[in-house]
Amino acid sequence: MVAGAGVSAESGLGTFRDKNGSGIWARFDPMKPATPEAFPRDPVEVHAFYNARRRNLITAAPNAAHFALVRLETALAKRRDELTLVTQNIDDLHERAGSRQVMHMHGELLKASCVACETIQPWREDLGLRDRCPACGGIGVLRPRVVWFGEMPLAMDEIYAALRKADLFVAIGTSGSVYPAAGFVSEARVLGIRTREINLEPSDNANQFDHRCYGPASEAVPAWVDEVLAST
Ligand code: OAD
Repeated sequence: MVAGAGVSAESGLGTFRDKNGSGIWARFDPMKPATPEAFPRDPVEVHAFYNARRRNLITAAPNAAHFALVRLETALAKRRDELTLVTQNIDDLHERAGSRQVMHMHGELLKASCVACETIQPWREDLGLRDRCPACGGIGVLRPRVVWFGEMPLAMDEIYAALRKADLFVAIGTSGSVYPAAGFVSEARVLGIRTREINLEPSDNANQFDHRCYGPASEAVPAWVDEVLAST
């Protein structure tokens, strides 16, 4: 399963591209806060963007979609089956809802990494140029532990290994416009895996899915989980 910003939208975190033009990338040029080139050029702006998002995340709460996926993971585990939850989201709402295994392919907002010693640590405060790396003592060397455009997403080997073993691939709340996640559905089709999209509206690659259901994630995801659990 791959999740996107739509899963957390009803928790108040906003999405990147909404058809009504209210997404984060309608207000910010993604090349400014979200590229490895932008950070050395304007670290203050990059930190300000992620600091605002981190503060927002800390006060947000998981919604019914996150809790439904915990229910699914728990029920599958009882019968020795497995849910592989891959998310493009950098929030921790799946974990706070109770999901045990989450792969954050675009990193995690509540972690910082050191560009000098590469240590990764939990980080809940604002990040700035005066912060010191707790591991190496360097000043101004910490960056949010997120994947920027042009950087390699995380855990790709594990994600493709899980996809090869899957019998169902589901994309939830993602616009299908950012690769490599947008390409998972075509990989799944090549592997003969059934595919389903759950989104507010048809995504950019909606026509590649075998099954599609549309509605707010807080309603559509619990309804789909009920359906899966009733049929097994
Ligand atoms: P997008 O903002 O591109 O897409 C969000 C999708 O969620 C859209 O298709 C919306 O229709 C849908 N949506 C909105 N509200 C919803 C709701 N309540 N219930 C269900 N669906 C809803 O977000 P992603 O596809 O996650 O990367 O974006 C992928 C990546 O692009 C992000 O991880 C980020 C971004 O640029 C980086 O920053 C590197």
